[in-house]
Amino acid sequence: MTQPKILVTRKLTDPVERRLAESFDATFNPDDRPLSPEALADALRSHDALVPTVSDRITAAMLRAEGCRVRMIANVGVGYSNIDIAAAEAAGIAVSNTPDVLTDATADIAMLLILSATRRAFAAEKMLREGRWGGFSVVDGLGTGLQGKVLGIIGMGRIGRATARRAAAGFGMQIVYYNRSPVEDPGVEARRLESIGDVMAAADVVSVHVPGGGAAPLVTAEHITRMKPSAHLVNTARGDSIDQAALIEALVQGRIAGAGLDVFAEEPAVPEALRALETVTLLPHIGSATQEVRTAMGHLAADNLDAFFAGETLPCRVV
Ligand code: DGY
Repeated sequence: MTQPKILVTRKLTDPVERRLAESFDATFNPDDRPLSPEALADALRSHDALVPTVSDRITAAMLRAEGCRVRMIANVGVGYSNIDIAAAEAAGIAVSNTPDVLTDATADIAMLLILSATRRAFAAEKMLREGRWGGFSVVDGLGTGLQGKVLGIIGMGRIGRATARRAAAGFGMQIVYYNRSPVEDPGVEARRLESIGDVMAAADVVSVHVPGGGAAPLVTAEHITRMKPSAHLVNTARGDSIDQAALIEALVQGRIAGAGLDVFAEEPAVPEALRALETVTLLPHIGSATQEVRTAMGHLAADNLDAFFAGETLPCRVV
């Protein structure tokens, strides 16, 4: 029996590539170079399924193009704003994602950013590495503690809840949140506020956990203006979940105290204005980057492919 022809757009962990090579006529990307839009469009015409990830923008034009052969897209990532989902659905192309397996790892990175931003870890390490540390000081480089402070969660989904649990149980923070739909069990003592703006105004630290890919960012310039001057903002969701330009302006003007960012609006571009700020900790989209989790994500994508080609229900169907 001929095996379905699949293209894996980026390098995956070895166990996952071995598994895919056994079940499919699979093409891999050993050099891990991002595919150009032309190469992606070509792959859609020449394969039965695609295994892309967050760095591959699969547009409506690509999905609507004549000769599109792909019937299934198994995205390696819980977020799927890199794919035009409406166009995939209209074209009858199934799309799956990889939820759950990365929840804890991503919440850990949210905590790391919360701690780094509020304790000014980046500025302190930079000073030390540059040989500018003159020795212990009682008053230099003071950050702010988290105990008793308010963490505002925007988007109380799996990762938002996991971050809230860590912050409450491990660091004694009080939790407020905004979620579009009611949350039956936030898993922690938490107060739901009426709007994103209300959470931004109430919080000492805001942690963003809403999807990107919308026509406009969910966290707007107006929302950012409601933050306290002493507050920090952390984003481990998507760069375009927040108005990045407005955030930079608020940071540069000192209207908020700092930020921790793992995601950016136009990755891999990170604006120079952000890179210049010592009040900001910047990470290169590593929320789910552990051996265990990236392997689990790859296996989940493979489970979805297996189910699709066996005519079974997809474990993680998006459309
Ligand atoms: C996701 O899964 O959406 C992450 O951003 C990439 O690991």
